[in-house]
Amino acid sequence: MIYYSPHRKAHRRWKGQTRLCRLTIAVQILLLLTVSLVVCGLLEMSDMGASLLSLSGQKAMDQAPLEVGEGQGQEGSTKYTYTYKTLPGYFMQDDPATDAAKFDFMSTNFGLIDRDYESDQSLPDGGRGSTQWQRFEHHISTLNRDAREDNDEDRRSAKRHGSNPPPQTRYVLFFLGRHGNGYHNIAERYYGNIAWDCHFSALYGDPDGIMTWSDAHLSKEGKRQAREVNTFWKNQTSQDAQKMSLPELYLVSPLDRTLETAEISFDGLGPNNGKLDAVVMEKVREGTGIHTCDRRSNVEYIRQKFPTYNVDLDPNLTETDEYWIGDRREPDDVLVKRLRGFFDDLMSNTALAGDKERISITSHSGAIGAMLKVLGHRKFSLTTGAVIPVFVKVQRKSSNDEKEDKTLGRRHGGGGEGANHEDPTLDLPDLGDAETDKSKWEPVPSCPADLDLATVGQKRWGMGLKEFLDGVEDGTLDPNAVPFEFTGRSKY
Ligand SMILES: *[C@@H]1O[C@H](CO)[C@@H](O)[C@H](O)[C@H]1NC(C)=O
Ligand SMILES: *[C@@H]1O[C@H](CO)[C@@H](O)[C@H](O)[C@H]1NC(C)=O
Repeated sequence: MIYYSPHRKAHRRWKGQTRLCRLTIAVQILLLLTVSLVVCGLLEMSDMGASLLSLSGQKAMDQAPLEVGEGQGQEGSTKYTYTYKTLPGYFMQDDPATDAAKFDFMSTNFGLIDRDYESDQSLPDGGRGSTQWQRFEHHISTLNRDAREDNDEDRRSAKRHGSNPPPQTRYVLFFLGRHGNGYHNIAERYYGNIAWDCHFSALYGDPDGIMTWSDAHLSKEGKRQAREVNTFWKNQTSQDAQKMSLPELYLVSPLDRTLETAEISFDGLGPNNGKLDAVVMEKVREGTGIHTCDRRSNVEYIRQKFPTYNVDLDPNLTETDEYWIGDRREPDDVLVKRLRGFFDDLMSNTALAGDKERISITSHSGAIGAMLKVLGHRKFSLTTGAVIPVFVKVQRKSSNDEKEDKTLGRRHGGGGEGANHEDPTLDLPDLGDAETDKSKWEPVPSCPADLDLATVGQKRWGMGLKEFLDGVEDGTLDPNAVPFEFTGRSKY
């Protein structure tokens, strides 16, 4: 006010007005400014004036049951729905002929199929001097660049015709990694899964104090597995081998075993002196409830033990564990719904995911199974420490736009490369009905009447827990030697 004379004049004029009036005018100017800023920001961000007009129609949309394979997210104040499709023809893991139980991602170049891509032509020397992974990464970037051009063109054309733009497309490569072997895995093998589920899983550790499995830690075997994955990543990214690029974003479940697996797996790789700057995400934790191994520690514990991890970016990560409960287990369809919510949140979070093409998620067997469902990948069980790459086409449409889209894969991104494939058959229950009222989750199953909890492990293995643990830890004992489930017994 005191620096510019025109303002001083204005100030003098205002002097004659009442205090109340000045205040009112000031408030009005501020309001006008805020509204125009918000409007400009929205138009800038979404380039869609139309969405503003139909915002009021959203409420009904929010409450409508979700379509199978489709989720909802929000960017700015425009609501979007997302569809996910795993593109076939890139990785051996989604080929039905590949046996998950025998598959080793480390001896198969992550399962990446040897092939040509159309985009090889735009590499120097037609890609002949590039590795399979370099050509694949170039292919992803090319698909995304073409998709962005199409998206922009669609938006401009929709604006001209006053119609809603068709879905926006992007392509993302996810690396889904399961944590290494943990003490809970050893205990479950020892007691067998029936005794584990009906009794031991709810305990803090074994009755003799040999091990604990609350927020289970990695066993020595689990750390060894993670170091092996670390060696593998180092080789894959080295100049003597595939010259792979590292993921651009690392997300990790808040349980100790995944935090530690990610830390070891990516140790010495990337910036920040090789210290992983992963983002801790509540929703990628394991299916929860009853099992103490799936109850997490407080965020303060994570801060102390993993100081380079970011625990502030996920609004769902509360200081204490508010999701786990002691007497009920999260059902599968609730888990799938949670993971779809996670992907929708992620895709609509431009600050976090932006236009990133390679995203690593370190998680758990149950949660990864749910992720594969959401992403339209076939069932593929991972052993502890295993990683599966999943190449996904993500389509986002404004949920204000209820028009059916018939144009998927019609141009770039099509061309025989990942388009023209059938829609995945998603065997999802109606997720709109997934029970979020925890009191209706599944209770602890009762133990079979003939199960002797005191001797069940001894009977299965012919040894006590301590001996079993030592054998697994020093590699002299195969924890898979005794079948996981009791045979010849009715399943309860
Ligand atoms: C590194 O990867 C290459 C294949 O890209 C492989 O031939 C080589 O054996 C690997 N080296 C090590 C030390 O694993
Ligand atoms: C996660 O965070 C979002 C955004 O803050 C919120 O809308 C949602 O209810 C949260 N979900 C859970 C399960 O806490």
